[in-house]
Amino acid sequence: MTSTGRDERTHVPPPRGPRDDGPALLAEVLPAAAETAETFEDPADARLFPEEEALIAKAVDKRRREFTTARHCARQALARLGLPPAPLVHGERGAPTWPAGVVGSMTHCDGYRAAAVARRADLASLGIDAEPHGPLPEGVYESVTLPAERRHLGGLAALRPDVHWDRLLFSAKESVYKTWFPLTGAWLDFEEAHLEFEAASGGAARGTFAARLLVSRDDPEGRALTGFQGRWLVRDGLVVTAIAYPPAA
Ligand SMILES: CC(C)(COP(=O)(O)OP(=O)(O)OC[C@H]1O[C@@H](n2cnc3c(N)ncnc32)[C@H](O)[C@@H]1OP(=O)(O)O)[C@@H](O)C(=O)NCCC(=O)NCCS
Repeated sequence: MTSTGRDERTHVPPPRGPRDDGPALLAEVLPAAAETAETFEDPADARLFPEEEALIAKAVDKRRREFTTARHCARQALARLGLPPAPLVHGERGAPTWPAGVVGSMTHCDGYRAAAVARRADLASLGIDAEPHGPLPEGVYESVTLPAERRHLGGLAALRPDVHWDRLLFSAKESVYKTWFPLTGAWLDFEEAHLEFEAASGGAARGTFAARLLVSRDDPEGRALTGFQGRWLVRDGLVVTAIAYPPAA
């Protein structure tokens, strides 16, 4: 805790604010320590390293394009950290490998690809996720939510019926997993995190969320990993969620 009583581990840092060179969704949900890049298109000049190419040699065109563009974004974000292009292959359970001293996350969905990176000295882990802003497919909601979350989302839906809260919760849980996994190397089930959302006042569909972890693990710095704080945004037909997990003070 700080002298102000604020717990620095659970404080949500202020977002960086819009960039002037891109769609700027991620920059609104991540702190300035994270460098981001995102695109609504697949650039023709995006290239892969041979070891990345090997990973998608047999992939269909859709998978090839999302994989390639997300890495294009990641290299743009790495360049903003002052780092040279590097191959980003898969480690354990599909988690991307990042250059030494770097943490990061990638996401892709129809019409959007993005990456965020930070120096490990500034963030211990980060997770991003984007989803189309529409209802989850039939039957998915029950399998990814806890009963308490369904009651919570019911209340939020009454206040903000314009937000697909089911999709937002799903995206936030994907961000939780992408933040959690590099810290623990462990699987996390959908029912092992309890999420609560807050919506900002005013017209924009955006806010924060808190993920309470229902399993106990320590992070690599030996801190008990109890939960994460994140931000969410709905815009341009997308739900975007992000978590920036700070290093030990
Ligand atoms: C791995 C997973 C999180 C990816 O999310 P998604 O919405 O399907 O897909 P996205 O496009 O947003 O993200 C895909 C990227 O996630 C990253 N990723 C994959 N596995 C990962 C892992 N174990 N840890 C961190 N990042 C991972 C990869 O960079 C991948 O892109 P790439 O294959 O091109 O490198 C998801 O498929 C999954 O397995 N979820 C189950 C676990 C979970 O979410 N539990 C909930 C806990 S509350």
